[in-house]
Amino acid sequence: MAIMPKMSNVTVRRARIVDLPTLGRLGASLARAHHRWDPKRFFVVPKMHEGYAWWLGRELKSRKAVVLTAERAGRIVGYAYGRVEPRDWNALRDECGVAVDLIVSPRVRGQGVGRILGQALLAAFEKKGVPRVILLAATKNKDAQRLFHRMGFRPTVVEMALEIRRR
Ligand SMILES: CC(C)(COP(=O)(O)OP(=O)(O)OC[C@H]1O[C@@H](n2cnc3c(N)ncnc32)[C@H](O)[C@@H]1OP(=O)(O)O)[C@@H](O)C(=O)NCCC(=O)NCCS
Repeated sequence: MAIMPKMSNVTVRRARIVDLPTLGRLGASLARAHHRWDPKRFFVVPKMHEGYAWWLGRELKSRKAVVLTAERAGRIVGYAYGRVEPRDWNALRDECGVAVDLIVSPRVRGQGVGRILGQALLAAFEKKGVPRVILLAATKNKDAQRLFHRMGFRPTVVEMALEIRRR
């Protein structure tokens, strides 16, 4: 079932099991980018694409998760993944939708696909009845931060990390 009408030849629909290898490859590329930005904070493992596909496959079965793909001319050109999370007292974060991944294939970036996928994820969260959506963006990921700002997200917290020196 298409979640949004066709826009700019892009169709957004719920992800299926058959999509997982492609989503795994896209997710692994995002993980590797984060690892390059800060190798100590963001892990990667061998066969990261398989790990990512496994994780998203689990999420496809969860009613709390939303996994959407964007297709153009029958090919997947990006995906968005988020999940509904309950109140978290440590983070002082009430029930919300957490937008975890938003990825567009490098060859079609800058053509509005990221915005379309992001809006579709927000619409899916709205249908699930959450009052707000929260996301984290890596400090160095300026492209993503610009898109999220344009979509109306405001900055909230700054995560900091420190390595424990082993003696
Ligand atoms: C962040 C990301 C998802 C954005 O996707 P995208 O498809 O390039 O996003 P959009 O096309 O909607 O918007 C990006 C730019 O293209 C511009 N744009 C949008 N539609 C356009 C069109 N029809 N023609 C030309 N440019 C267009 C936008 O204005 C924007 O430009 P700006 O940043 O200078 O304002 C993509 O860069 C990506 O996959 N990055 C790697 C993964 C990542 O970091 N994800 C976020 C963390 S989870």
